[in-house]
Amino acid sequence: MTKLLNGNRLAIEIRKEIYKEIDKNIRNKKKRIPHLGIILLGNNSSSITYVNSKIKECKNIGIQSTLVHLPVESSEFELLKEIKKMNENSLIDGFIVQLPIPKHINTDNIILSINPKKDVDGFHPENFGKMALNMKAFLPATALGILVLLERYKIQISGKYTVVIGRSRIVGRPISILMSRKNNLGNSTVTLTHSNTPNIENYTRKADIIIISVGIPGFLKGKMIKKGAIIIDVGINKVKNEKKFLLKGDVDFNSVYGKASYLTPVPGGVGPMTRMMLIKNILIAALNNEKN
Ligand code: GUN
Repeated sequence: MTKLLNGNRLAIEIRKEIYKEIDKNIRNKKKRIPHLGIILLGNNSSSITYVNSKIKECKNIGIQSTLVHLPVESSEFELLKEIKKMNENSLIDGFIVQLPIPKHINTDNIILSINPKKDVDGFHPENFGKMALNMKAFLPATALGILVLLERYKIQISGKYTVVIGRSRIVGRPISILMSRKNNLGNSTVTLTHSNTPNIENYTRKADIIIISVGIPGFLKGKMIKKGAIIIDVGINKVKNEKKFLLKGDVDFNSVYGKASYLTPVPGGVGPMTRMMLIKNILIAALNNEKN
């Protein structure tokens, strides 16, 4: 029997908790409402969907958001100018630059230009390095969302063997670090694999937990996992089926369902958790901003 990990239901639960926390610490005390900035460059349809859902989540929870949408032909200099404005605007508690950005812009330069204190994505090397060293830092929202999902379902990570597939800065690399950290939400033995790993099934077949984020629909098949494995599918791929587009994960759902013990559905698994963790990060940033 495979149990589906319901990110939608958990997100509703966490939303209620955050709402109460904002009532208690911000609205009832008549403090300034936290404010998230979002910079989006271009018209990547998935990015537009993600950004809209982040803005909607802010509205649901009652925090402020400002979107700066730049045309696709904007230069690196123009994007850096908008980042500088967000860095210097004391009313913006934290902000993100939605990735991916077009190839004519150097993503590293962009991330390096974000003030680490406002880097609610946790992508800046200062936050990323602190994360790796188990120091206090903003943690990337998707990776944190996976940890919280496992925690709330009381799935033990400590002592388990985890295989991560995919090494992106958004998911694979940070989750591989977080799962191995020496604390109560980690302590797993981790192998980070990727598209150039030969015979990847030699790793995946041994794994207690597999976290996959490669952007290839149906990549992980039932024959590649051991019975009872816990499968976290981070992929969200738009796949055309006759007339309409469907959202498919990186896991071949039909062959994995029944063999895994736990599985995240797509949609409704990791995605809603990511949004809630971004909101948590914005609250932390607002609280820090207030102290400064
Ligand atoms: N693109 C896909 N996921 C993310 C994310 O968590 N943050 C940013 N900035 N871009 C993304």
